[in-house]
Amino acid sequence: MTSHIQDNISKEFDAFSSNYTEDMTNVVPHYLKLMSCFRTGVKKDFHPEHILDLGVGNGNSMAEVLPVFPNAQYTMLDASPEMLSIAEKRFEGYNTNSIESYFSDYEYGESKYDYIIAGFSLHHCDANEKKQLFHKLYQTLKHNGVFSFSDLCINKTDSEHQQLLQEWKEFILKYANEDKWLWLKEHYEAFDRPSRFEDQKSWLLEAGFSNMDIYWREGFWMNVRAYK
Ligand SMILES: C[S@@+](CC[C@H](N)C(=O)[O-])C[C@H]1O[C@@H](n2cnc3c(N)ncnc32)[C@H](O)[C@@H]1O
Repeated sequence: MTSHIQDNISKEFDAFSSNYTEDMTNVVPHYLKLMSCFRTGVKKDFHPEHILDLGVGNGNSMAEVLPVFPNAQYTMLDASPEMLSIAEKRFEGYNTNSIESYFSDYEYGESKYDYIIAGFSLHHCDANEKKQLFHKLYQTLKHNGVFSFSDLCINKTDSEHQQLLQEWKEFILKYANEDKWLWLKEHYEAFDRPSRFEDQKSWLLEAGFSNMDIYWREGFWMNVRAYK
């Protein structure tokens, strides 16, 4: 099969943007459920004024929280200009600003956000990038702020990883064909660097978060919340 993989994450998602939601729903187990976790189970007295969507993509994560917090100010951060442009059009008329940047290059500032969400974007960062990012996110969260991410949480070297790949392949073949699996595998090898929950937990605590929990999980697919 000819490779369709691009040479960096920004271009990869520019190319991925055209049929993104359908592709994600068909290739990522529990995708819609994990998106919905950004809006469900938040405390009744939680009224974020400023929300950061880290790796906003085409806006599926943000679309979950917008109806619940329609008056908040939204910052949409992403390295892919095509993805950002889709999100900008989708949320025209809302209080948004968009930033085209890699996570590691952006100056987040101190105590700016009440709620940070990251839908399937952290797994593109390796362990060191995640550790550094968690420190920056802690600094940029306001007191009582919440960081919530939905992602695959496993190390590629974990003993359960082969079994996960086998189940993932079976999931994809239910909704799509072998070519889609081969594409996913190539994308996963080139761009995805998931980390196990226990490692991310220790990096979050090291960064200063006071506590954290798994709000929802099915196997290694999780929504995790960390509190400042
Ligand atoms: C799988 S998509 C997720 C989009 C959306 N949050 C969702 O849940 O459907 C990952 C997004 O994160 C962006 N991204 C990945 N790594 C990034 C990085 N290091 N810096 C900035 N953006 C990044 C990609 O461009 C892409 O739009």
